[in-house]
Amino acid sequence: MRATTSTGLGALLLTTAGIANAIDLDVNSTDSILSASKTVVDNILKIYNNGSGPSIPGLLPDPYYWWEAGYMFDSLINYWSLSGDDSVVQPIQDGMIFQIGPDDNYMPLNQSKNLGNDDQAFWALAAMTAAEKGFPLPSGTNVTWIQLAENVFDTQVGRWSEDSCNGGLRWQIFTFNNGYNYKNSISQGSFAYLAARLARFTGNSTYSDWAQKAVDWTRNVGLLTSDGAIYDGTETTDNCSEINHVQWTLNAGLFLNTGSYLVNTSESSAWNDLIWPVFLESTQVFTDAGASANSQGRSIITEIACAARNTCNVDQKAYKASLARAFNIFQSQTASSVSTFNGTSSADAYSRAAAILRTSAQGAAAQCSGGDDGTTCGFDWSSSEWDGTSGIGQDLDALEVFLANLPAKALKTANDTSATGGSGSNGTSTEEDGGGNGTSTRTGTVESASSSTSGAAGLWSTSAFVALFSAIAISVLRLSM
Ligand SMILES: *[C@@H]1O[C@H](CO)[C@@H](O)[C@H](O)[C@H]1NC(C)=O
Ligand SMILES: *[C@@H]1O[C@H](CO)[C@@H](O)[C@H](O)[C@H]1NC(C)=O
Ligand SMILES: *[C@@H]1O[C@H](CO)[C@@H](O)[C@H](O)[C@H]1NC(C)=O
Ligand SMILES: *[C@@H]1O[C@H](CO)[C@@H](O)[C@H](O)[C@H]1NC(C)=O
Ligand SMILES: *[C@@H]1O[C@H](CO)[C@@H](O)[C@H](O)[C@H]1NC(C)=O
Ligand SMILES: *[C@@H]1O[C@H](CO)[C@@H](O)[C@H](O)[C@H]1NC(C)=O
Ligand SMILES: *[C@@H]1O[C@H](CO)[C@@H](O)[C@H](O)[C@H]1NC(C)=O
Ligand SMILES: *[C@@H]1O[C@H](CO)[C@@H](O)[C@H](O)[C@H]1NC(C)=O
Ligand SMILES: *[C@@H]1O[C@H](CO)[C@@H](O)[C@H](O)[C@H]1NC(C)=O
Ligand SMILES: *[C@@H]1O[C@H](CO)[C@@H](O)[C@H](O)[C@H]1NC(C)=O
Ligand SMILES: *[C@@H]1O[C@H](CO)[C@@H](O)[C@H](O)[C@H]1NC(C)=O
Repeated sequence: MRATTSTGLGALLLTTAGIANAIDLDVNSTDSILSASKTVVDNILKIYNNGSGPSIPGLLPDPYYWWEAGYMFDSLINYWSLSGDDSVVQPIQDGMIFQIGPDDNYMPLNQSKNLGNDDQAFWALAAMTAAEKGFPLPSGTNVTWIQLAENVFDTQVGRWSEDSCNGGLRWQIFTFNNGYNYKNSISQGSFAYLAARLARFTGNSTYSDWAQKAVDWTRNVGLLTSDGAIYDGTETTDNCSEINHVQWTLNAGLFLNTGSYLVNTSESSAWNDLIWPVFLESTQVFTDAGASANSQGRSIITEIACAARNTCNVDQKAYKASLARAFNIFQSQTASSVSTFNGTSSADAYSRAAAILRTSAQGAAAQCSGGDDGTTCGFDWSSSEWDGTSGIGQDLDALEVFLANLPAKALKTANDTSATGGSGSNGTSTEEDGGGNGTSTRTGTVESASSSTSGAAGLWSTSAFVALFSAIAISVLRLSM
C-alpha cells in the first residue's frame, strides 16, 4: 500500500489550482460534505442508469449482484434524508418497489441463485432506513416500508436452524446454492441488525429477543470473540468446529450497529460487552494506523483482508461503507449512555470515531480523482493518486464516509404518523411516509420460491448461468480467504 502523509492536502491544492482532480471536501462544512456527496451520488446513478435508465428497475448492471442494489438504495435514502435532495426519490422508489417479490418480502423469483439470507436482509435494511427516515412511499403502494422489513424478519425467523450447531442462520436459503452449509457472521449480523431496528421502531421486545439470540449464537459458536473480533463463518458439516478467521468491515459494522440500536432501545448497559469490544477492535484492525489509532494518529478505514494485496472482489469493495456509517450510528444511538470500558470513556470513543471518519473522508475525497471528470472514486483512501479502479462499491464507501461526518438526524418510530415524507422533503411525493405499525400478513416460504425457480428457468439467459458460476467463484473466494 502506498503510504503518504499529506496526500489530502496535495489533492486540495490541485483542486484550488483549477484542475478538476479529486473531490473538494471540507469535513467541517455541511455544505461541502453534501456537495461532495452529490458528486458521488451522480456517479452512482450513472452506473445504475447504464445509459438510458436501468433495464429492470432495482437491478445494477453486471458485475453487481442483487444485494448490492439494496445496499445502494439504503445509502441513497441516507443521502436523501441528510440532503433533502428530492431528485433521488423516484429512482429509489421505482427500484425498491419493483424488487419486493410476489410475497412482499424481497424474494423476487429471478434472484433465487443470488438470494442468501444476507442478500435478502440488505434490502430489508434499506426498507428499514426508509421507515426510520420517513422516506415517501410511492402513492398506490399497498405495503409499507416497515411491513416489508417485518416480512423479511419473519421469513428469517422461520429459517433459524436448530438442526445443526445449536441454531444460527445458514448463509444460503436454498439447498441448491453453494454456501447452504455455511453459517456465517454476515447472515447473523444482518438479521440481528434488522431485528434491533425493528425493536427500536416498534417497541416490540420480540425483535430485541431475536437480536440477542442471534448475537449470542454468534458468540457461542466462536465467530464473535470477547475482544470484539468477528470472523467470517463456519461449516455445519464440521459441526461448526472450524472457524474461517477472515475479518470484514461489513460484519463489524453490522454488529456494532446492532449493539448501538439495542443500547438505544433498552437504555441498558447490557450491550456494552458488544459495542465496546467491537468498536475498539475495529479502530485497530481496520485502520491503516492499527494500534496507533488509539493515540488518534492518522487513521483511515481500510479493508485489511484484501486491500493491500489488491484482491478485494466487487462485493468486498463496498464493505467499508457499512463500518463508516456504523461509527456515526454508534455515536448517535448511544449518545446518552455514558460509560467507560477497559479504560476508554464514551467521550474518548466518540472523538476517536470522529477522527477516523474525518481522516477517512479526506482520504476518500482525494482518492476520488479518476476518470474523465476527475471525480471517479477509487478504493485506496491512503493515496491521493487514483488507484485506477471504479465502481459502485468504491462510490458507496466514499458516500457513506462523507455522510458519516454529518450529525445524525432523529429517527422515526411507529408512533410517528407525520405525512411530511421526512426532513428536507416538502412532501411532494406522497401522502404516506412508510411508517405506521403494520403487522406482517404474508410470509414467503422457501418451498414456494424454490419450486417456482424451475418454472422460471426457461426464461434465463446465458448471463444468468454466468452469474451463477461467478457466485460460486465468489463463495469459494470468500471461504478460502
Ligand atoms: C475542523 O474543526 C476542528 C475543530 O472542530 C479543527 O480541529 C480542524 O482543524 C478543522 N479542520 C479543517 C480542515 O478545517
Ligand atoms: C451497461 O452495463 C454493461 C455491463 O452490464 C456495460 O458493459 C456497459 O458499458 C454499460 N453501459 C453504459 C452506457 O454504462
Ligand atoms: C425478472 O426477469 C424478467 C425477464 O428478464 C423481467 O421481465 C422481470 O422484470 C424481472 N423481474 C424482476 C423483479 O426483476
Ligand atoms: C399488493 O398488491 C399486489 C398486486 O398489485 C398483490 O400482489 C399483493 O399481494 C398486495 N399486497 C398486499 C399486502 O395486499
Ligand atoms: C409510542 O408511544 C407510547 C405512548 O406514549 C409509548 O409508550 C411507546 O413507548 C412509544 N413507542 C415507541 C416505539 O416509541
Ligand atoms: C411483536 O412481534 C411479534 C413478531 O412479529 C408478533 O408475533 C407479536 O404479536 C408482536 N407483539 C405485539 C404486542 O405487537
Ligand atoms: C483491554 O485492554 C487490555 C490491555 O490494554 C487489552 O489487552 C485487551 O485486549 C482489551 N480488551 C478489549 C476487549 O478491548
Ligand atoms: C456439535 O457441537 C455442539 C456444541 O457446539 C455439541 O453440543 C454437539 O454435541 C456436537 N454434535 C456432534 C454430533 O458432535
Ligand atoms: C438514542 O438515540 C437518540 C438519537 O436518535 C439519542 O438522542 C439518544 O440519546 C439515544 N439514547 C441513548 C440511551 O443513548
Ligand atoms: C397500531 O395500529 C393499530 C390498528 O391500526 C392502532 O389501533 C394502534 O393505535 C397503532 N399503534 C400505534 C403505536 O401507532
Ligand atoms: C419543493 O417541491 C418543489 C416541487 O417539486 C420543488 O421545486 C422545490 O425545490 C422543493 N423544495 C424543497 C425545499 O425541497
